[in-house]
Amino acid sequence: MIKVAPSILSADYVNLQQDIEKVEQGGAEYLHIDVMDGTFVPSISYGPGFVKAIRPISNLILDVHLMVQQPEHLLQDFIDAGADLIGVHVEATAHIHRALQIIKNGGVKAEVVINPGTPVSQITPLLGMVDQVLVMTVNPGFGGQKFLPETVAKIAELDQYKKNNGLGFDIEIDGGINDKTVVDCYKAGATVAVAGSYVFNDTDPVAKMNALKDATK
Ligand code: DX5
Ligand code: ZN
Repeated sequence: MIKVAPSILSADYVNLQQDIEKVEQGGAEYLHIDVMDGTFVPSISYGPGFVKAIRPISNLILDVHLMVQQPEHLLQDFIDAGADLIGVHVEATAHIHRALQIIKNGGVKAEVVINPGTPVSQITPLLGMVDQVLVMTVNPGFGGQKFLPETVAKIAELDQYKKNNGLGFDIEIDGGINDKTVVDCYKAGATVAVAGSYVFNDTDPVAKMNALKDATK
């Protein structure tokens, strides 16, 4: 069964605490927080202060997805804010290894993220040091986009690499995930599913999370 990471990008910001409590009580494992800088991706979302505000109201794993250019300058702020896991895009920095080192030295789980256009080969030197790899299943920047099926082969490639090398990192998927698209990703080796609009654009987010879990039993 896949672990579920609801993305609060699609939650009700005015009643955010209610939405977070709903998914936490409903069995979510992670809370996915999308940080966008208006440069690496066209949108702007929220920063470390937002993570700091959420930290005391939730025991979920705070999974911070940094869609920002040169994330190394912001990492300490997100570590101090109480993130449990921080993801950095390999496309966003010339020093991805250093960025991951900073995260790990801060006592936080480290994740490398690849866009749909980036091959797995670009991150193989990093796979021994990460706790999680995020395979983007849409181009980052917006919720509610259509799943890109060509990304599934990369999940399978990562899963094979894990097995061949005795590694234990999680494989997360993000973008266009619903009870249909999650199935092939899970079969290919995905262990954590981010879902934003599928979960929150519904009157019953918990039923949607259960549908993701049921589809991957
Ligand atoms: C996209 C973000 C996602 C987004 C997913 O750039 O990284 O986490 O919230 O939204 P859905 O599930 O609606 O595709
Ligand atoms: Zn995300």
